[in-house]
Amino acid sequence: MLTQLTHRRVSVESPASTANLGPGFDVFGLALDLAYDRVDVEVVEERGSGKVVEFEVQGPYSHDVPKDRENLVVKLAEYILDKFNVDVDLRVRLWKGVKPRSGLGSSGAAAAATSVALATLLGLDTPPLEIVKLAVKGEEYATGTPHADNVAPSILGGFVVIRSYSPLDLIRLDPPDDLGIVVVCPEVRLPQDKTRYAREILPRQVDLQRVVENIGNACYVVLGFALKNTKLIARGMSDAIVEPVRSKLIPGYQRAKERGLSAGALAVTISGAGPSIIAIYSKNELEESQARDIGQSIVEVFKEEGIDASYYLTSPSKGTRLLRLE
Ligand code: HSE
Repeated sequence: MLTQLTHRRVSVESPASTANLGPGFDVFGLALDLAYDRVDVEVVEERGSGKVVEFEVQGPYSHDVPKDRENLVVKLAEYILDKFNVDVDLRVRLWKGVKPRSGLGSSGAAAAATSVALATLLGLDTPPLEIVKLAVKGEEYATGTPHADNVAPSILGGFVVIRSYSPLDLIRLDPPDDLGIVVVCPEVRLPQDKTRYAREILPRQVDLQRVVENIGNACYVVLGFALKNTKLIARGMSDAIVEPVRSKLIPGYQRAKERGLSAGALAVTISGAGPSIIAIYSKNELEESQARDIGQSIVEVFKEEGIDASYYLTSPSKGTRLLRLE
């Protein structure tokens, strides 16, 4: 049991992220400087029962997530208190800035912020990989599957490759400076448990030829990040296994992709489980107005499908930030 707390209050923010990047299903993730979830944790009782006794949700997407004990933030915070045998009672506030069910690592951002906040407050002397493992538990509460390709980049920043889940083994790389990202968010109606559904529809068995294609592409993505070569990353951002199935959930996807490529994108793919789409470009080669053309041309396709959509220009994020520690 932890009896001496050195801090009483902590506040951290964790960014959105895009998973898969084409061929890297559950393996690749990139933190995005697009939107953040913030978690504030405060000790209200040092000798309590190891519970979250007050929970509040604020922010632009507060209406889109559970405001009670069903929220992954509460479940994860109590899981961490229990795991480390800590009996403090907490007041927790979530500021929800990453849009849920958008394919931009919303649950991952909340889980990342909760894990880092708790680890900091409790003074856990754990390496970053152990904090990622805690956050994976939060992702499991939210989506039913313990994938790390959102929480790992959300915590560590940059690009992450997950080699193994058991044991968890991953490597983080800094993205090239010129990597520009256009995110397009179509207002597609999706089930409440969207990620679970988007995983259930995936094939259990895959053609060897498709596997070979994805391995080749995945190698190019990793080489591109390792060599800081945005064009190489883009050459590998093609997926023969998951995208063909999930694209059916996004009306107009193929045309949107073609239009984005014609407008100057180096690659276009589904962000995580969708429905958001990411297009990448080199900031050395395109002006901001040309990058906006990519976003606008994809938005136009969705409009033609009768679907509202918005686009954003963004860059990789450096990951979770400590905002306050008292
Ligand atoms: N790799 C996960 C998936 C990411 O594609 O289902 C979900 O955000």
